[in-house]
Amino acid sequence: MSDEYILEVNNLKQHFPIRTGFLQRVTGHIKAVDGVSFAVRRNEVLGLVGESGCGKTTVGRTVLRLYDPTGGDIWYRTASGERVNVAQLKLKDVKPLRREMRMIFQDPFSSLNPRRTVKDLIGEPLLIQKVAKGKALEERVAALMTEVGLDPNYMERYPHEFSGGQRQRIGIARTLSLSPRLIIADEPVSALDVSVQAQVLNLLQSLKDELGLTLLFIAHDLSVVEHISDRIAVMYVGKIVEMAPSEQLLRRPLHPYAEALVSAVPPADPDVKTQRIILEGDVPSPANPPPGCVFHPRCRYANHDSCRTQEPVLEEIEPGHFVACHLARQLSLAGIGG
Ligand SMILES: Nc1ncnc2c1ncn2[C@@H]1O[C@H](COP(=O)(O)OP(=O)(O)OP(=O)(O)O)[C@@H](O)[C@H]1O
Ligand SMILES: [Mg+2]
Repeated sequence: MSDEYILEVNNLKQHFPIRTGFLQRVTGHIKAVDGVSFAVRRNEVLGLVGESGCGKTTVGRTVLRLYDPTGGDIWYRTASGERVNVAQLKLKDVKPLRREMRMIFQDPFSSLNPRRTVKDLIGEPLLIQKVAKGKALEERVAALMTEVGLDPNYMERYPHEFSGGQRQRIGIARTLSLSPRLIIADEPVSALDVSVQAQVLNLLQSLKDELGLTLLFIAHDLSVVEHISDRIAVMYVGKIVEMAPSEQLLRRPLHPYAEALVSAVPPADPDVKTQRIILEGDVPSPANPPPGCVFHPRCRYANHDSCRTQEPVLEEIEPGHFVACHLARQLSLAGIGG
């Protein structure tokens, strides 16, 4: 393993049991995450995109051991330089890592306790981890509020006195309070108005540059992650189907599903006409995924028997560009800018 990786996830699986009947017998499994591998470098932003239900949140929660993985490894390099497998750690050994690895949640409305003041909310992790109290705590909270563009004079106020965008800033300040080394941002702007989305994205971008954050940035849309991400991984029904440096993925997608996502990104130049690819059919259920390539029933290029019968593996087709598609070497797919 290279020292530069802060997180390496290998063949991660998260299968939730389906229980039915009076006896609550296990009659099947939802394969929410089914063999996912990726790595995140220090100071890197990896975007994780895909349709609703493809398993993005489950990846994030499992990496933080909010769920016990069904299988796979989660190698994390700690602040002290030790390499630990979060998947195998005892829960009591995971707890100290929660200071280093933190999550920003999608919904700034339900993730903040309405009965606590902003000072309490941002200061709580510092108190719990015994990092600061009293005057020092207040000073740290004020500095964090300034950092995320909030007026520290409002620290005695309650979340409902703030707008959605400001609440997400409170959430971000709370996440930053312990100076985490790895942040998993789960759709941090999806619940916000489009105009406010851009502001919060810009904030995250500038925090990234200033603080050298390492982020796993989860979103539905490529357009949300394209600017902030160094690399992007595309998920479909519990698997990563393509992963590449952001620009490469947008210019030259190699997977038909990624091509469809790229076609939905509004072009920077409004005069450029793009052909939006509308995918037909529904996303298959992760409880009963189709045989062969999970994407084949919706793929307009699937013409091989292998697409229907053989599961493609994620392969490095060009340096740093991974794709799981039997036809990747034959197809010439459309990206942004031609
Ligand atoms: N705790 C759970 N128990 C059972 N099934 C779950 C659980 N959490 C998620 N799932 C199922 O796992 C699949 C993946 O869910 P997940 O929330 O990870 O998707 P997602 O990509 O984050 O979707 P969204 O974009 O809507 O947030 C879904 O089919 C979901 O219903
Ligand atoms: Mg989610």
